[in-house]
Amino acid sequence: MRINKIKGTIDFFGYEVEKYRYIEKVCVDIAKKFGYSEVITPIFEATDVFVRSVGESSDIVNKEMYTFTDRGNRSLTLRPEGTAPMMRMFVENKLYVNPGLAKYYYFGPIFRYERPQKGRYHQFTQFGVETYGLENPLLDADVINLACKIMNALGIENVKVCLNTLGSKEARNAYVPALKEYFAPHLEEMCADCKVRFEKNPLRMLDCKADANTEIMNNVPKISDYLTEEDKAYFEELKNALDILGIKYEVSDKLVRGLDYYSNDVFELIYDNPDSAINGLTLCAGGRYNDMGRDFDGPDVKAVGFAFGVERMMMALDELGIKVPDSSKDKVTVITLGKPVKKVGLKLVDYLRSNGIPAEIDYQSDNLKPQFKLAERIKARYIIIIGEDEVASNMMTIKDTWKQVEVKIKVNELNEYFEIEGANKYAY
Ligand code: HAM
Repeated sequence: MRINKIKGTIDFFGYEVEKYRYIEKVCVDIAKKFGYSEVITPIFEATDVFVRSVGESSDIVNKEMYTFTDRGNRSLTLRPEGTAPMMRMFVENKLYVNPGLAKYYYFGPIFRYERPQKGRYHQFTQFGVETYGLENPLLDADVINLACKIMNALGIENVKVCLNTLGSKEARNAYVPALKEYFAPHLEEMCADCKVRFEKNPLRMLDCKADANTEIMNNVPKISDYLTEEDKAYFEELKNALDILGIKYEVSDKLVRGLDYYSNDVFELIYDNPDSAINGLTLCAGGRYNDMGRDFDGPDVKAVGFAFGVERMMMALDELGIKVPDSSKDKVTVITLGKPVKKVGLKLVDYLRSNGIPAEIDYQSDNLKPQFKLAERIKARYIIIIGEDEVASNMMTIKDTWKQVEVKIKVNELNEYFEIEGANKYAY
């Protein structure tokens, strides 16, 4: 029986890889301009990394982790998100001893056992950023700004920034009992998930999809009535900074996020086009989380960050009909006439590649047709033709298929033609 890929995973090839790598490049280029540097953490961690931080009441820890016991009898988990491993890394390596704000980005695979559907996979990719060491609404605004700049650079314009604050611990300590008191008499009418969340994390009831738009949800107490003066001032400053940066946003008091570690502001960038099949899809999400350092027995680390779903960004590009540029440089195909010239052709291909020019040759065929087919298949811009006559007279024919011009040059003029620097001249 044929073995196929696991449902909820993707094979990337051809143009899909171009798209994937282009998104990575845009994210990385912009993040570097904002002063972020890359961190690479392992793909699996001790299960506790996620249980302690993402939280036992979250869907991720409850039912979505790929957890296994290794041969050393340790419980390990394929990372279901990047924020907790990053904080583990930051605390474990005592990077907090360095002065100033730390700004990191990461890019890599994430694993969640969610029901696969369009835009929801078992293995997907996140580009994320995390900052450590500062609690300042200007920073939070600039983190959201970075996410928006990436969207703009990719040409994804139909995006709504949704924003909320969960307030400080003090505010949540007052709000959560009020929520419980409110929901308690209505619990029988609510969905099974809400009943569980009522016990474990009533805040999560607010973003329940099944019970959204019910009368119960419409009249629910608002976190904004429980914020401390300090929380309110922080949120106002954040909104003000976003206004100054020209970022439009909507405050949505039901936005609570599915991970337990957030405090204060949370945000999501949502694809927004009612006519589109992916309307409402969350492309990017993040927020402030000031208590996670302690989960890893480290110091208090003030932190804010976000993560993009790369496959969802690819879907947005497709939806908008945006084609990413071809990453390859102008390619060359060397076409040979006559068997003895094949090796000369291989040497020429090797010279071009060594000088940074992508070049290919048909190893097998002496016939012109398959050799031209190769040029067509790899979308070669240049076709170099050499036969026994050319080799004897130290000449070659080069066809520029874009400009539609053909020239005959001496072999020692190859460097000039392809703007190859260096004193070495090519010879047959
Ligand atoms: P998250 O909302 O769980 O947040 O995921 C972030 C993004 O990953 C989502 O907005 C979505 O684009 C993508 N995503 C999530 N699940 C899937 C899936 N099953 N298939 C495809 N894409 C998916 C976090 O992971 C937080 N760590 C974000 C963060 C960073 N908060 C602070 N710093």
